[in-house]
Amino acid sequence: MAIERTFSIVKPDAVAKNVIGQIYARFESAGLKIVASKMVHLSKEKAEGFYAEHKERPFFNDLVAFMTSGPVMVQVLEGENAIKANREIMGATNPAEAARGTLRADFANSIDENAVHGSDAPESAAREISYFFSDEEICARTR
Ligand code: PPS
Repeated sequence: MAIERTFSIVKPDAVAKNVIGQIYARFESAGLKIVASKMVHLSKEKAEGFYAEHKERPFFNDLVAFMTSGPVMVQVLEGENAIKANREIMGATNPAEAARGTLRADFANSIDENAVHGSDAPESAAREISYFFSDEEICARTR
């Protein structure tokens, strides 16, 4: 299995709950390495650009308002099958449907405030990583 990278966000609700470390521990326990990380407070323009594919959806304005309501942690995770592995750790978009022991089951408030984001495909992972990180900000983890 090839080593893959994925993009992840700890959303404002989870940052406000002070569970960044607990979420990072779940990534590491699953064998994913954090190869880039920073805290940012998204501007309206940055959030609208990130979620541009959803701009016609009825929840778009509320999603942008939520994602700009406080700081988020953005990170690049690296590991075997990282995109799928992270989606499994996260659980379903709606926490009411998320499997026990997943991040959304344990930390999300609702479908609107669902604790974490993770890329859903290699193409979106590449686009989302480069939307937040330059190549110089991503560290090789050879040890
Ligand atoms: S869906 O519902 O399966 O189409 O969701 P998805 O395409 O994976 O991503 C939709 C993103 O919008 C966030 N969001 C909501 N989705 C559905 N319904 C409501 N009400 C809603 N509110 C916000 C959802 O969490 C997805 O964001 P990310 O950051 O990708 O998790």
